[in-house]
Amino acid sequence: RLSYEHILVSQPKPNVTQITLNRPKALNALNSALFHELNDAAEKADEDEAIGAIVLTGSEKAFAAGADIKEMRDKTFQSAYKNNFLGHWTKLTTIRKPIIAAVSGHALGGGAELAMMCDIILAAPSANFGQPEINLGVIPGAGGTQRLTKALGKSLAMELVLTGRGLTAAEAASRGLVSRVVEGDVVAEAVKVAEKIASKGSIAVQAGKEAVNASFELNLAEGLRFERRMFQALFATKDQKEGMAAFAEKRKAQFTNE
Ligand code: CAA
Repeated sequence: RLSYEHILVSQPKPNVTQITLNRPKALNALNSALFHELNDAAEKADEDEAIGAIVLTGSEKAFAAGADIKEMRDKTFQSAYKNNFLGHWTKLTTIRKPIIAAVSGHALGGGAELAMMCDIILAAPSANFGQPEINLGVIPGAGGTQRLTKALGKSLAMELVLTGRGLTAAEAASRGLVSRVVEGDVVAEAVKVAEKIASKGSIAVQAGKEAVNASFELNLAEGLRFERRMFQALFATKDQKEGMAAFAEKRKAQFTNE
């Protein structure tokens, strides 16, 4: 696809794709068309050998204010169930390359859930996270009750989901929902992090992402076994030989992603 209606795709660095949600009038509310475009752009970046990491961002005012309520309001159980409503959102979690969310302003409902589907979240001081679905007579439907609970623990996640109150950037950082609050240009900082990741060996990066994500699904013994097998497997790569040779020779490693 060459052009999108609801997102902007750019390449701020030769090895970084930036996807910017771009429905400013609706505070980047996530309608179905937007999410299909987002999936498409992320898959393109995933397939592109030159790209090592992806930055996902919104506007100053809103990362995304949630699923599109106007699109949702007339849905029935029957159609939502038959068509697996929001099922296509999970495609983003199958992207192998790291996705760094740069969040300014509102990240609410599906917007918070979208940020949590990413691998690293950097927050501007203006960022606020919440699951206000309870005010709409529903609950989070794209991972909020699960990912928020894993990030924040039961008590705080339960409070957010049941009262609809949000978290400031500072609270989100102190509880580990985001890795840090960035004063200044959060998108530029996310691009820097993405570029740094893209400079590493891509096979090891992919394995690192896969192994950390496995910790959310496996028990400790299975997770440790998975990690050790991945670690052992990386000794088959040229990047391992290069990385360790470069260390011994006191020079910078030149990874070839092989
Ligand atoms: N869906 C559709 N439109 C939305 C929207 C959403 N989630 N959020 C904002 N908009 C629209 C508003 O309707 C408004 O459009 P109009 O100008 O045509 O009226 C425009 O964006 C600007 O919004 P506001 O005027 O409300 O802006 P504000 O600055 O006064 O308030 C806000 C900002 C507090 C974020 C407020 O817009 C808001 O509460 N939005 C809804 C947040 C929400 O409930 N999100 C959860 C959605 S459900 C969900 O996401 C389910 C899931 O788990 C996947």
